[in-house]
Amino acid sequence: MNYLTASLALKAASLSPQTRAAYHFLARLKSKRRPFQKTHVDWLLSSLPNTPMKILELGTGWTSTYGIIPSLARQDCKFVCFDVKDIRHTCSKFKESLNYNISEYFSNEGRDSEISKKIVRAISKDNIDDIYSEFGVDYCVNEEGVPPYRDGEFDVIYSFDVLEHIPADAFSRIAKKWYDILRPGGRFMARVSLCDHTSYWADRSIDKRYLGYSQSVWRNILENDVQYINRLSASQIVEIIEDVGFVTLEKSAEQIVGDFRVHPSYKWQSDTDLRALSLLYIGKKP
Ligand SMILES: C[S@@+](CC[C@H](N)C(=O)[O-])C[C@H]1O[C@@H](n2cnc3c(N)ncnc32)[C@H](O)[C@@H]1O
Repeated sequence: MNYLTASLALKAASLSPQTRAAYHFLARLKSKRRPFQKTHVDWLLSSLPNTPMKILELGTGWTSTYGIIPSLARQDCKFVCFDVKDIRHTCSKFKESLNYNISEYFSNEGRDSEISKKIVRAISKDNIDDIYSEFGVDYCVNEEGVPPYRDGEFDVIYSFDVLEHIPADAFSRIAKKWYDILRPGGRFMARVSLCDHTSYWADRSIDKRYLGYSQSVWRNILENDVQYINRLSASQIVEIIEDVGFVTLEKSAEQIVGDFRVHPSYKWQSDTDLRALSLLYIGKKP
């Protein structure tokens, strides 16, 4: 499928609540196992303080892989998986995908027996909620995208490939809520994909093709709701997060190499931002 066809198909899928529901249903039905990045979990675990904590994962997605695997590695911590919409797979696909990802992360030799027992018990369940209970992980959805928790309730909040989907005009308000529910001294960690999600549909490439179109062509022709990306640059995201009060401890951005088209309406961005494919961010609430 070429880029324009993919854009129009995604736009058509965004037309009404019914087409959006049909899109999500078909996407779930057709989707293969989402590639699991062991390095994401390693990055998270290596940055977590070594004390018992309450931890919130934002945008847990189809299988809560990035919530459940860390919960197995850190059984002294309570994990809560949050999403704006329940997009989880059916129970059998959920189990298959989770089991595969857990085996990728913990080799049979590397598993302690408690982890193995938990996995066996969880995989025997016929209901997704029972699987979460077996792992001691909570799951929560709020359609406004605002986690419904008390101020200072969490020690760490993290997400993988979620912040690029937060509507640009709501980002500050939602980021303020993350700040509020984190305790003073708590960490906010995020990996943000900055690539064009339509490209991924069109030819499975990872690039920043949207930068080649004017703002009005993007808004009127190419943008869609089902694969919405806010097109905020890495610097803009960091600026919003700092504006709500976080102090940046670490940030780095993977860079795209080679030439690509940049429309004049994006030329104000630095070369580093234009080339940034993903952002890794760690901040602290003072
Ligand atoms: C690309 S998926 C990533 C899923 C998962 N983190 C992973 O890497 O497999 C993006 C996720 O962000 C969620 N999302 C979008 N807006 C959100 C918000 N305001 N708060 C929390 N999650 C959100 C979507 O529902 C979806 O589950």
